[in-house]
Amino acid sequence: MAGKGDRREYALVVFGVTGVTGWEVARFLAKRLATDKTLAGRRLAVAGRREAAVSAKARAIEAEFPAARPIGVIVADATRPESLEAMAKRTEVVLACAGPFRFLGEPVVAACAKNGTSYADVTGEPEFSERIALHYDDQAKRNGATLVTCAGFDSIPADIGLLHAKRAFLERYGPSSLPLHVVSSLSLHAGPAGFAGNTATYESAIHGFGSVSALKAIRKEAQAALPSWLLPGKLLLGPRLKTSRGVGREPRELGGKLTLPFPGSDASVVRRSQMWRWREACAGAGLPVAGGAGSAAPASDVSGAAFVSLPRDAVPVQHACYVSFGSWWYLALTMLAGALLSFLAGHAWGRALLSAFPEQFTFGAFKKGGPTAEQRAGTSFDISFVTRGYKSKASAEAALRAAAAGTRSSEAPDASIVTRVGGPEPGYVATPIFVGETALCLLRARASSGEGRVAALPTGVLTPGAALANSDLIARLMAQGIKFDVCA
Ligand SMILES: NC(=O)c1ccc[n+]([C@@H]2O[C@H](COP(=O)([O-])OP(=O)(O)OC[C@H]3O[C@@H](n4cnc5c(N)ncnc54)[C@H](OP(=O)(O)O)[C@@H]3O)[C@@H](O)[C@H]2O)c1
Repeated sequence: MAGKGDRREYALVVFGVTGVTGWEVARFLAKRLATDKTLAGRRLAVAGRREAAVSAKARAIEAEFPAARPIGVIVADATRPESLEAMAKRTEVVLACAGPFRFLGEPVVAACAKNGTSYADVTGEPEFSERIALHYDDQAKRNGATLVTCAGFDSIPADIGLLHAKRAFLERYGPSSLPLHVVSSLSLHAGPAGFAGNTATYESAIHGFGSVSALKAIRKEAQAALPSWLLPGKLLLGPRLKTSRGVGREPRELGGKLTLPFPGSDASVVRRSQMWRWREACAGAGLPVAGGAGSAAPASDVSGAAFVSLPRDAVPVQHACYVSFGSWWYLALTMLAGALLSFLAGHAWGRALLSAFPEQFTFGAFKKGGPTAEQRAGTSFDISFVTRGYKSKASAEAALRAAAAGTRSSEAPDASIVTRVGGPEPGYVATPIFVGETALCLLRARASSGEGRVAALPTGVLTPGAALANSDLIARLMAQGIKFDVCA
């Protein structure tokens, strides 16, 4: 099977180039190919179902970035699997930008997993993302491919940001310290022209609300294969993090603005990344990580010693993520829209109604075509992370040994750090950077062999924090203007 190391006709293919997001992703990559000497000779193609429209996009990109010429054109339709297979065979990495992914995404994943093609998508739909991990992980592994899901604004800044926060804590307090709790808070800053998203994201959210029971079934099946001590929330590490399910306040270090729980995919992506890294670390230490919920826990004296010796950035923290509001007015408006959306999205007639009137149901936040140039220029985001844990080696080890014995250390954290990830307009300016640099990491890992070899990436269907924890993604993102700061 073709896999790592083989050069194909195209380095990168952007599937969905006629969409608002795909277009910006293709422009970002054309610019990178045109300006980065290490990518000299590598070719980009754009793909979609309407040949004339895809061709017009390719020509427009060539005119804007002549050094990226020639841009290939591939006709591929999510309803014609053979066209997706042909696309996957011609390229090393596919960037999937056609959504809602619940309806358009799976055949693209199937083609990539089967043909050993690396893949990155911009979905923020947990049901799709967890379904493909359940069904295509083994095949992708067998064929040597890394498929990274949720590689846009959903959920790179939250997922890689959490990893950055844990590592910053360990750097400040030393390798025998232990981060325990991370609370993150997202702020969106709009300029005078306001903020907007394209209707496709709104459609994806509507169907996300409508697929809650399907997601529960997927999680049950995925977790059935794991011993319970590896499951999210079952590791009793340090005192329980107090979380808020309704209106709350940011931690005092962040200024205490009003918050609501963040309703997007971030929390679930972070949870999956953490559990994946924890399972890998435990497996590496020889602990029995398969066998299902009924299987015996490893003896606590064995697991206690193993837990203490594991790399601390692979130990899962308790995590809560919120979105912050500058005023009660915006918070009330968001709660009203959210309540209406979740009620209507639960019914087929309600989904039809929501789809027909996006602007009306979101007070203008979602409209066809997405944000104007002025709105893009004026919007930015940041996610702040407050990480608390033990700086004392004795406290850290006691907590790990207690967790191995199935009990919880109640000692309060004695150290904290504040970190932040920030960048430009999230949906159509930052997302192309996130998914574009993810794809370039995947490409580099495939290309490298012999001298100058970069660390191989794990294979399978993975979240960003699982696939890219040991890559140079943060440095790449920083070089493109995304900020990863340690604040206090
Ligand atoms: N993670 C993030 O932060 C983030 C940011 C932005 C967008 N997104 C997600 O990205 C997705 C796309 O958003 P968008 O705003 O770019 O949507 P869009 O402008 O409506 O574009 C949708 C794309 O899908 C294509 N498509 C539809 N049916 C197809 C089929 N059968 N075969 C092949 N292509 C097909 C469309 O092609 P035609 O032109 O031929 O119809 C178009 O290129 C959404 O799921 C959205 O939620 C995520």
